[in-house]
Amino acid sequence: MILRLGIGGFPHSPELARTLEQLRDDTLLSRSRIEIGSGGLAGAIEHYRGTATPQLLIVEAEGDMARLQSELESLAEVCVKGTQVIVVGHVNDIAAYRRLLALGVGDYLVAPVGAAQLAASIQSLFADPSAAPKGRLIAFAGARGGVGSSTLAHNAAHLLSQGKDEDVILVDLDLAFGTLGLAFNVDPRQTVGELLSEPERIDAQLIDRVMVKIDDQLRLLPSPGLDRYWPPVEVEAVERLLGLLRGMASQVVVDLPHQWTPWVAHVLEMADAAVLVSTPDLAGLRDSKAMLDQLTPRRGAREPVRLVLNKLDMLKKTQLAAKDFEEALKLKPSVAIPFDPAFGEALNEGQMVGKRGKAQRLAETLSALAALVGPRALRQPAREGKAFPDWLKRLKPAIG
Ligand SMILES: Nc1ncnc2c1ncn2[C@@H]1O[C@H](COP(=O)(O)OP(=O)(O)OP(=O)(O)O)[C@@H](O)[C@H]1O
Ligand SMILES: [Mg+2]
Repeated sequence: MILRLGIGGFPHSPELARTLEQLRDDTLLSRSRIEIGSGGLAGAIEHYRGTATPQLLIVEAEGDMARLQSELESLAEVCVKGTQVIVVGHVNDIAAYRRLLALGVGDYLVAPVGAAQLAASIQSLFADPSAAPKGRLIAFAGARGGVGSSTLAHNAAHLLSQGKDEDVILVDLDLAFGTLGLAFNVDPRQTVGELLSEPERIDAQLIDRVMVKIDDQLRLLPSPGLDRYWPPVEVEAVERLLGLLRGMASQVVVDLPHQWTPWVAHVLEMADAAVLVSTPDLAGLRDSKAMLDQLTPRRGAREPVRLVLNKLDMLKKTQLAAKDFEEALKLKPSVAIPFDPAFGEALNEGQMVGKRGKAQRLAETLSALAALVGPRALRQPAREGKAFPDWLKRLKPAIG
């Protein structure tokens, strides 16, 4: 098992500082990022007043239980939702241990702790699949064929991969007609077609072998094309593949084919962000409405579907306005992207538009799209996204 976590360590004693350094060499955390601060629990509180907390905090506490509880309350106030906390303390008391766990602290270890002990604690904390961080799933579909949904998926994924600490997997699920290989100028031997046709064989190692690495932050799963007949895609196979991919990257961007099949609808229903791309014309409006009518109720409390109008002003005379879409669909288009030959030129060169440096305004529009579909942190200033972690809810009443 290899965990991919952001970890903040705040030791007070030199012993814990050394242990945290040693933790970096543990295979379990070979894909994790460990940042080591100082000042123990109080140091962590100070540090995270101005920046978002990572998935796991390891903090060293001083003093008795009363002090520990009040410091944990202050820590909870600066923690983002979902952050797990391991406390290394000096009170060796089983009642205190039970109490802290009941309050929602992930684990309490009595100092001195070794790297192996800490790794075991982290493993048990994150081995529970519901606790493991899951990459954000972002699905792109076109209301009609050829509207540019693949192009926008590629560019958004590329831009997201440039974010700090992000890593992105871009999957082309248009098995027969996908353009991911062309767009990035790669020609893989194995593709997502092989993975989906034998879903029982899929695991993280196999996926890793099939993926094409563009750089440290962007990996691709291209489609096979027409080199053979691919059996129909099963909902379960896609679900399994995407579930595994979400454990392997912070963002998983899926380019869907223009089809309305159970598995395509299912991906759009379960994605964290579902992006529907349309050209500003009557047929696009009709099909956007039909898709939204089906998707919106089935997505329940998830983020609303993001409607993107593409190729604006390509056919000015017959084009509908964004307002027409908003009135008919009761959904405001989130982004409008002009028709621009830069897209075709970029495709011919096997590059993303933003990389070409010639189309600054277009690059800005695409950044807005990436920010819209990407993680919350990209959309809001760091402090605004903060929410009390689950454990504060339990901590508050306990300490009055
Ligand atoms: N804003 C734009 N301006 C100009 N050309 C664009 C724009 N967006 C996409 N294109 C071009 O439109 C063509 C179709 O794009 P793309 O393959 O992304 O569409 P699609 O919706 O994924 O199509 P399909 O239904 O085949 O999956 C490509 O040649 C692409 O370069
Ligand atoms: Mg496409």
